[in-house]
Amino acid sequence: MRGISGSYVLAALLLSVAWADHHEGHHHGHSATGEAHSHEGEDICHKISPPNADFAFALYKNLNAKTAAGKNIFYSPLGIATVLSMLSLGAHGATHSEMFTTLGYSPLSMTQDQVNEAYKHLLHMLGHSQEAQQLEVGNALVLRTGFNPVEKFMKDLKDYYSGETFDVDFNTPDTAVTKINSFIAKKTHDKIDNMLSSLDPDTAMVLINYVFFRGKWEKPFDAEQTHKADFHVDDATTVQVDMMKRTGRYDFYQDQDNHTTVIMLPYKSNTSMMIVLPDEGKMAEVEGYINKDYIRHWHDSLFRSSVELYLPKFSISADASLADTLKEMGIVSAFGDTADFSGISEEVKLKVSKVSHKAVLSVDETGTEAASATTAEIMPMSLPDNMKLDRPFLVFILEHSTKSVLFMGKINNPTAE
Ligand SMILES: *[C@@H]1O[C@H](CO)[C@@H](O)[C@H](O)[C@H]1NC(C)=O
Ligand SMILES: *[C@@H]1O[C@H](CO)[C@@H](O)[C@H](O)[C@H]1NC(C)=O
Repeated sequence: MRGISGSYVLAALLLSVAWADHHEGHHHGHSATGEAHSHEGEDICHKISPPNADFAFALYKNLNAKTAAGKNIFYSPLGIATVLSMLSLGAHGATHSEMFTTLGYSPLSMTQDQVNEAYKHLLHMLGHSQEAQQLEVGNALVLRTGFNPVEKFMKDLKDYYSGETFDVDFNTPDTAVTKINSFIAKKTHDKIDNMLSSLDPDTAMVLINYVFFRGKWEKPFDAEQTHKADFHVDDATTVQVDMMKRTGRYDFYQDQDNHTTVIMLPYKSNTSMMIVLPDEGKMAEVEGYINKDYIRHWHDSLFRSSVELYLPKFSISADASLADTLKEMGIVSAFGDTADFSGISEEVKLKVSKVSHKAVLSVDETGTEAASATTAEIMPMSLPDNMKLDRPFLVFILEHSTKSVLFMGKINNPTAE
């Protein structure tokens, strides 16, 4: 495999917009956007973090219900919310309000302009607050050759979502697929090289979001301690994993009332991996109640402890076709013949035809050059707590400066493809 060593996480999302059935006399909804631009910067960026977190958990519940036992779930809630917000630029009427309600922006009375400003700031902070080359978040618009969207849509996409634009000829789907796949492969450092297998020749445009994060553990594991161990996928299935081991000081919390143990593994940046390990037999219960308030409660309850940590070394990828999920979550009309994307084109009727998402998570010992230099920690004499990730667990990759859930999921089986 070309590219990177060390831990990495990435996702790509692709949303296709196709010609809808040609009906005469479509009407233009009223623009949901005002003209005023706000410059509240960081505050406005933090304003979308609670609704985005709620959206992340709503997605989790829906995806979890659709996922077969023993399969992993992994996705970028931030990437999915970003693409939907980009699309909402061109949506009017019910098509727009359903999107804003599902994303949680309507209940906060946020206007399209405020949402745009928030993403602009968020993308700026993600792009600049990290060590070089660690976190890359970007958007793109692929246009059908000859299709000219409304100018304001193009301008807003560029100004607020830093969307780069290129065009392809969807009439020759194979060439179009190759061109889009190689764009995504380039942006994900060749880790997602086959995103699309086919494309509808009726496609008018494709919106793309990618998130690439290469994490370097602040406290790397010592490869010499990695050993073979059992991982219990469920009562009937045990697989063998390469189990990493590290004893050290971690932010740790055992929530006995709620049957969960939580640990925070910081990367060398403003990003951490939060791992939530339900007690044995309690996964379904934890999945039932978990939401952003629990994450906050655990985050605030963490305290520095010495922990003997066992974490499998693994690399998983997960695919999701999100159309049904988004419909069940309330975004319905965008997919139907009544979709109102008159903010994208006034001449032709458009609807969303496909939403595909793919995410990859790879965790190993190093992720850093200086494994030995950072291992000296003062350990108290007391017996360390023990956290053994040898059964399914939940994982969150959190970016602290923007309070974003970059990625989240459930590792049911670290050896599954
Ligand atoms: C973390 O984010 C802050 C802004 O909240 C920024 O000033 C700082 O440089 C970031 N640190 C790293 C290591 O990226
Ligand atoms: C269990 O969760 C509830 C709700 O978040 C919280 O109020 C309570 O403090 C938690 N229990 C513990 C021991 O943290």
